[in-house]
Amino acid sequence: TSFVVLQLLLLGSSVSFIVVDGLRRDEYPPHFVFGASTSAYQVEGAADEDGRKPSIWDSFAHAGNANMYEGNGDIACDQYHKYKEDVELMAKMGLDAYRFSISWSRLIPDGKGPINQKGLQYYNNLINELISHGIQPHVTLYHWDLPQTLEDEYGGWINQKIVRDFTAYADVCFREFGDRVKHWTTVNEGNVFAQGGYDIGFLPPQHCSSPSIFNCSKGNSSTEPYLVTHNMLLAHASAARLYRNKYQDKQHGFIGFNLLTYGFVPLTNTSEDIIAAQRAQDFFLGWYLNPLIFGDYPEIMKKNVGSRLPTFTKSESNLLKGSMGFLGINFYFSFYVKDNPKTLNIKDRDYLADMAVELTAYTTNDTATEEFPIVPWTLQGLVDSLKNIYGDFPIYIHENGMQTHRNSSLEDWKRVNYLNEYIGSVLDMLRNGHDIRGYFVWSFMDVFELLGGFETTYGLYYIDLKDPTLRRQPKLSSLWYSNFLNNRTMDP
Ligand code: NOJ
Repeated sequence: TSFVVLQLLLLGSSVSFIVVDGLRRDEYPPHFVFGASTSAYQVEGAADEDGRKPSIWDSFAHAGNANMYEGNGDIACDQYHKYKEDVELMAKMGLDAYRFSISWSRLIPDGKGPINQKGLQYYNNLINELISHGIQPHVTLYHWDLPQTLEDEYGGWINQKIVRDFTAYADVCFREFGDRVKHWTTVNEGNVFAQGGYDIGFLPPQHCSSPSIFNCSKGNSSTEPYLVTHNMLLAHASAARLYRNKYQDKQHGFIGFNLLTYGFVPLTNTSEDIIAAQRAQDFFLGWYLNPLIFGDYPEIMKKNVGSRLPTFTKSESNLLKGSMGFLGINFYFSFYVKDNPKTLNIKDRDYLADMAVELTAYTTNDTATEEFPIVPWTLQGLVDSLKNIYGDFPIYIHENGMQTHRNSSLEDWKRVNYLNEYIGSVLDMLRNGHDIRGYFVWSFMDVFELLGGFETTYGLYYIDLKDPTLRRQPKLSSLWYSNFLNNRTMDP
């Protein structure tokens, strides 16, 4: 059941060249924002400084990352101390926006109760620095780093108490930062957190159904991913209601949700595979989008999951409906989907068995040699499909980027090709009438990757971890992005 991990590992690795054509920033709408993304645990460092307490990520990394890779976020990129330098680089690059997350346990070390004044100061400093350089802060409240205290006290997201504590945390953020922050994402990749943390077990808190793979065993994967998702949706809706009632009139901001997306392409033209591709999308995305837009889970999930799928009360359903001001899409690659009804007969089925499909990486002949195949038409297909099913709603592409090995060249042509193609496809989607409001590259710099540690990189800037100054060194992709954003052309 480790398809996501395996697919990530299996997607080949050699160089290819595509000529960079002349994309221009001024062809995009003036209010469209271009940015870059990171998250707190992946860049901040200063893990036990100034009153911050551990999150479930600190515990997981210190316990050895499930033996998959080395490292932790104790120092990471040290953005906690280097934020001014980073904002300066962002401004020079021409970024309109920076997407980052708040470390809940830096701001409220025990997850609830007293605020850590130094944590508050840090985020005020970062936000002010961004604003004074003309860069919009786009803030994620939960990027998988639950305060360890809440995990220990009541099992974190498994327990509905999380809704109250998350809402109180969001309240602090809206109150303290909402005069300057207008774009809030409650949860990053809720679907991956639920699946990786409670079904497959490659993410903390490492509950899983296949103990042999990731060295984990606790939990119940036939119910917990559903329960955790249910509580995340309720927490989101509760924070969105709070914003609407208490802050909207004064602050005029937007509250969104974020999902990891793939294009789901039927492996064959048979009706079984076509239906299976839709089913995979319903399970992976509809799981969240149906409740957020229509107030309930997709019918196919109710059918396949049965009584293991929690239900919403009428008032919860009403609260959910329309609680998403925008959807953040993280997109990297796509899958072929093949129907596989056999898994429905497995006793103690888990989330992936309920989906009843087989997934393989989507490649084409000319893209098979790429680390991530460059297949922007699958992103376009996905966005078309979302519009057909859910109607029009604002979309931000919150993450998109190319994975390479840390030691690969600073002349990262593959990343340039990848970004060029995807950014170009965004223009096509805008011209086709899609309501896409912004695009963010993952990641601004090489970070501590939540799957792959320091070996796997996506950054526009390289950091040599052996250099004590952790100097940010521009890769070719950062020059390319900067040229594009400043309306300069760059000869390949
Ligand atoms: C997903 C996550 O949001 C981010 O934390 C991660 O590093 C990237 N995508 C790359 O896998």
